[in-house]
Amino acid sequence: MKGVILAGGHGSRLHPITLGVSKQLLPVYDKPMVYYPLSVLMLAGITDIQIISAPGDVAGFRRLLGDGSSLGLTLTYAEQDKPRGVADAFLVSADHIGDDSVALVLGDNIFHGPGFGELLRSSARDVDGCVLFGYPVRDPERYGVGETDAAGRLVSIEEKPAAPRSRLAVTGLYLYDNDVVRIARDLRPSARGELEITDVNLAYLRRGKARFVELGRGFVWLDTGTHNALTEASQYVQILEHRQGVRIGCVEEIAWRMGYIDRESCHRLGRALAGSPYGRYIMEITEDRAAGVRGAAS
Ligand code: G1P
Repeated sequence: MKGVILAGGHGSRLHPITLGVSKQLLPVYDKPMVYYPLSVLMLAGITDIQIISAPGDVAGFRRLLGDGSSLGLTLTYAEQDKPRGVADAFLVSADHIGDDSVALVLGDNIFHGPGFGELLRSSARDVDGCVLFGYPVRDPERYGVGETDAAGRLVSIEEKPAAPRSRLAVTGLYLYDNDVVRIARDLRPSARGELEITDVNLAYLRRGKARFVELGRGFVWLDTGTHNALTEASQYVQILEHRQGVRIGCVEEIAWRMGYIDRESCHRLGRALAGSPYGRYIMEITEDRAAGVRGAAS
């Protein structure tokens, strides 16, 4: 399975902050925002990943992550010349996807919860159709909204409905079989001028091939598109990390625990960042002979 991170857009809701830097490179507490969706793909077992960003922003992502080899990944970069919608990612990344299945994650979405890595890996196995992840929110009208029947099966999806049929937002993490590229090619722009991911998902729903996995209580899904949301996400990460002494979305640690790199390589990555508590954390966990007791990376 290939991975795609969509980190395009102007970040206009965060102006003036995003006039000088891509939204997905802004800090969420102690690390750049893009580390969180990247860690989601890594935990799913995906190592061949393309990052899509606005043309002027590619250099910043490349400076941060390079070709991914230090993390045991293959990272490539693609440009989206203007924001044409989430589903445009499949057109921009068609060559990268090839004839493989694909996981798409939005560059400003943060997921965290117990057992998430295992859930991802089992959901990503042999995707036939699509797998969507639902999360109950207070303000579903801001999102794609999924409605389920009594058995939990998806029966409708609407993009930003004025009168939502449920509180279940469709989160910005999507797993698809290879048909998604063909489906995206046939899309027409919506009223807001975008190729809607909801229209892709509706095409799968009509075929009876849309699985819906509900992320329940105890799970955290945050987006970071507004000043308040960005601050709240930072506070969430800060509280959790400070209380437990773990780091979430630490891509170096995940690369090591997933077996993409060995302990020594991971330690070296930490040493290169030794001026920061983040770097010292990586050094510490890879020095600790009983490091496994800290448990999963996310
Ligand atoms: C997009 C999708 C929407 C989804 C949301 C998740 O919204 O269109 O269905 O629920 O991401 O973050 P947008 O960011 O384009 O408003």
